[in-house]
Amino acid sequence: MERYEQILRKNGQEHILNYIEKLEEEKKQNLINQIENVDYEQLAKLYEESNKDFSKAIKSVMIEHIPFCAKEKLGQSKCEKLKEIGEDIIKQGEYAVITMAGGQGTRLGHDGPKGTFKLDVKPESKYLFEILAENLIRNNKKYRVALPWYIMTSTENNEKTVSFFKEHNFFGYPKDNVKFFNQGNLPLLNESGKLMIDENYNIKMASDGNGSIYKSMKKDGILADMKNRGIEWIFIGSVDNALLDMCDPVLIGLTISEGNEIASKSVAKRNPQERVGVFCKKNGKPGIIEYTELPEDMAEETDEDGELLFGESNIICHLYSINALDSLAEKELPYHSAHKKANYIDESGKLHVSTEPNAYKYESFIFDGFGYFDNMSILRCKREENFAPIKNKEGNDSPETAIKLYNDFWGQ
Ligand code: UTP
Repeated sequence: MERYEQILRKNGQEHILNYIEKLEEEKKQNLINQIENVDYEQLAKLYEESNKDFSKAIKSVMIEHIPFCAKEKLGQSKCEKLKEIGEDIIKQGEYAVITMAGGQGTRLGHDGPKGTFKLDVKPESKYLFEILAENLIRNNKKYRVALPWYIMTSTENNEKTVSFFKEHNFFGYPKDNVKFFNQGNLPLLNESGKLMIDENYNIKMASDGNGSIYKSMKKDGILADMKNRGIEWIFIGSVDNALLDMCDPVLIGLTISEGNEIASKSVAKRNPQERVGVFCKKNGKPGIIEYTELPEDMAEETDEDGELLFGESNIICHLYSINALDSLAEKELPYHSAHKKANYIDESGKLHVSTEPNAYKYESFIFDGFGYFDNMSILRCKREENFAPIKNKEGNDSPETAIKLYNDFWGQ
């Protein structure tokens, strides 16, 4: 028996043999290589957990309020002092920025990497990558630096992303300071825990969540590149926030003055029912609790000033010291499963386009890394200056709402 056959039989994936026997040599060898590289033990564990009710698991975790600092209430002199600390870091060339652009953007449904989506803002429409580039160019001018900009892509969208940047001449950003790196992948499993095959007779894979960033940075030499350049502090943000401020010296200053290794900006939750994850302490460590996990009474709890105790929304605006990223590259993060639609080829070669969720996708989340630290700084900032997310095709957090926020901010 061939080695790949042994592997498939041992792991209950022998249905793949039916695909292999029909393939011509090159495709066959390609699929065999993939079969030999799957971590079946890990997949079996993930599948076992796929249907577990995590809302029960969260009940055994002690959830507490996490202190935060509201930028507005800092007072001018404190704010200036923190700003100065942060500005020194930026001016000395010790600051770098990462954009996470490896997501699939399924809710928006744009054909192509999400950063290539064009937002119809005034005075003229702009791509999401263009908006980010403009933000960084403004900061480069202000601080007389050329911030290193790292962009995380997925296997699925890397080529398209890189050629998009080339096509648009990097939107005027100094090319030598832009580096792309790839995040990890994991196979999708069907509802019976079986591997699936895609249109090109590959094992059907998907990006394994933005928590992949920590290990991927090490694997692709990004951490080493940062160390060579003398980078001490790193901002990590999402690709889909048209008001993302990637260079806030007050955040850096606050983190340093509080003696922390990690930090994040938040915005106040609009109301107890808003569907956002909020910062909290989980068993004494910093973390995020999803709105689906936060019990109703806790979501409504307020302090003596009437502020929500769990009211600091995560806007994916994170800051890390280089040492924090170095240590996170060695840590294991949990995987969360999502029930998703996935097209596949059946054994007779017929393509099935799924209209209902039919597969499990496994993702780790960047914020699960926070729990490896005793504390983190949280800087509450103004929503209208920092947060214009583009998540859905229509309604809340859609291009329409982001365009309005963007135009209002820029006085258009
Ligand atoms: P989201 O959680 O909003 O996911 O990503 P998404 O893939 O963009 O959109 P949906 O859920 O499919 O509609 C938040 C940020 O994390 C990045 C995204 O690109 C976005 O900047 N991300 C997400 C990755 O880089 N990799 C992933 O595997 C997932």
